[in-house]
Amino acid sequence: MNLTLKIWRQSGPNDKGRMVEYKVTDISEHMSFLEMMDVLNESLVAKNDDPIAFDHDCREGICGTCSLHINGEPHGPDRGVTTCQLHMRMFNDGDTIYIEPWRAKAFPVIKDLVVDRTAFERIQQAGAYISVNTSGNTQDANAIPIPKYDADLSMDAAACIGCGACVASCKNSSAMLFVGAKVSQFALLPQGRIEARERVLNMVKQMDEEGFGNCTNTGACEIECPKNISLENIARMNREFLKASI
Ligand code: SF4
Ligand code: FES
Repeated sequence: MNLTLKIWRQSGPNDKGRMVEYKVTDISEHMSFLEMMDVLNESLVAKNDDPIAFDHDCREGICGTCSLHINGEPHGPDRGVTTCQLHMRMFNDGDTIYIEPWRAKAFPVIKDLVVDRTAFERIQQAGAYISVNTSGNTQDANAIPIPKYDADLSMDAAACIGCGACVASCKNSSAMLFVGAKVSQFALLPQGRIEARERVLNMVKQMDEEGFGNCTNTGACEIECPKNISLENIARMNREFLKASI
């Protein structure tokens, strides 16, 4: 495939940034999107040009590091996959592809397609953990019976990889799908109930302080989420928050 790429270039946080056009040729439909970006970067390096900065790590849909707004959609046109799992067979020879960073006030651009997502880490630090006595008398987690239905729901919520696509897809840059998933994975288990009240209050407070907007009830986050995190997690977080506030 031969493709035209229109890519956001921004040398640093204070640069205004602009779209720059590139051409790539002989791209295999079996390549991943990031491998296609590698091909472009190799050609830029060969010409002594600055390669395009983009985030990636595991390249197998686990770490949540990769991002990219592709043709107006976080993680591109496929469903239930991250950018690193997106294949070039989703595009056609001759296509023009627009590639931009996540756009949200709480995710400032560091360079090109790399944004600062440490706001998510600060929200996690505010409560996404349980306190366990590790003195040697710790109870084996498997000794606590948990209904399979609850365990399954908790596992579904725990599938969130913290990529930020939910924020990037939301017209209000809301992080409620992410925070809802993190609150839910603990709220559904007995181990998580002990600190449930402080957890939801502290995580929601941190979310607001970081500058994320409120939920718009549009549902774009659920559609674009590569891990199919359900909107039910936002409803559960809202119930937890209401109970904790009272
Ligand atoms: S809820 Fe989905 S889109 Fe949002 S951070 Fe988690 S995995 Fe990414
Ligand atoms: S690089 Fe790890 S999820 Fe894409």
